[in-house]
Amino acid sequence: MDVTLITGASDGIGKALATQLAERKHNLLLVARSADKLDRLCTQLTKTYGIQAHYIPADLSKPDAAGQVYEECQKKKADNYAVGQQCRHWLQW
Ligand SMILES: NC(=O)c1ccc[n+]([C@@H]2O[C@H](COP(=O)([O-])OP(=O)(O)OC[C@H]3O[C@@H](n4cnc5c(N)ncnc54)[C@H](OP(=O)(O)O)[C@@H]3O)[C@@H](O)[C@H]2O)c1
Repeated sequence: MDVTLITGASDGIGKALATQLAERKHNLLLVARSADKLDRLCTQLTKTYGIQAHYIPADLSKPDAAGQVYEECQKKKADNYAVGQQCRHWLQW
């Protein structure tokens, strides 16, 4: 299963993009700092579009944050149950 990774996904353009891609049946891995907003969005997109949506709360201004997101992608891919098998797109705003 392919997973689309979107950073800056809790609001604005990233949120709109997440919604558009969910409508097109992309499974999603969403990143921003606000865990509460990401949680709500994932729940809404999952219910509305029948996709899998997960999130990683991360502050991408921190030097090690991108590495953590990358590792999380690898971990979930290896476990093969949380976000699926690969993160195909990296969309950084
Ligand atoms: N809207 C436009 O018309 C427009 C036009 C041209 C360019 N842009 C540029 O495109 C970008 C996005 O615009 P937008 O209107 O969608 O902005 P926005 O509504 O403020 O959304 C920004 C997103 O980035 C996340 N974010 C901000 N700082 C972050 C950080 N340090 N680490 C992780 N996530 C972070 C925010 O979530 P959290 O706060 O939860 O982290 C939010 O999800 C901006 O750089 C803007 O200048 C926008």
